Amino acid sequence: MPVSGMPQQEATVNYNWRESLAEALRRNRRDADHRYFQLATLAEDGWPANRTVVFRGFSEDGQRLQVATDARSEKHTQLATNPQVEVCWYFVRSREQFRIRGRAALHDAGAVEAPARERLWNAMSDAARAQFFWRDPGAALGEGADIPVTQSPPASFLLLEVEPLQIDHLQLASQPQQRHRSWIERGAWQSFPMNP
Ligand SMILES: Cc1cc2nc3c(=O)[nH]c(=O)nc-3n(C[C@H](O)[C@H](O)[C@H](O)COP(=O)(O)O)c2cc1C
Repeated sequence: MPVSGMPQQEATVNYNWRESLAEALRRNRRDADHRYFQLATLAEDGWPANRTVVFRGFSEDGQRLQVATDARSEKHTQLATNPQVEVCWYFVRSREQFRIRGRAALHDAGAVEAPARERLWNAMSDAARAQFFWRDPGAALGEGADIPVTQSPPASFLLLEVEPLQIDHLQLASQPQQRHRSWIERGAWQSFPMNP
């Protein structure tokens, strides 16, 4: 369902958010920071909690956004209580924003998605991997224990996947600006253009 209050309109057939996102990734690929997006969760006290993460690619079915994260981070506890997230992703070169409401899942070594977690670990640089052996992130400086370094992914390493459910895509570079909302209904994507 689209956000309440939205007019019931004919869904547009010539817009596909997933193709638009793939195109944005292609058009911005020369910028090193095009893979950073903001991931907002809800904390247990009701405050939004937002942070920057690195987009690591799509799941094999091409639908879910993948991120590497630490089991000791606050997002882990927050997502266990409430898997609802919002991604905010701005592409500087093409001047467009994707706000993606979705459901997040965290996968460890025991998950069905363990092979995808392993593939992500193998694709990461040594510097990116090293952080998963550091002392507890978020603990007071110097507190907590280092994790023994291993070749295989440690328990601290999780694959986070966001399954998009609703997308608000704003294109500032178009004349006039364009904005589309997309949502999934009975398994099929619907979308319509909005005033920007
Ligand atoms: C440029 C940049 C990229 C980052 N990438 C990641 C990432 O891919 N995964 C991650 O868990 N944290 C990443 N971080 C750190 C998070 O922003 C955040 O500090 C950390 O995940 C702890 O947040 P939390 O305790 O609220 O979960 C990144 C930070 C920056 C500035």
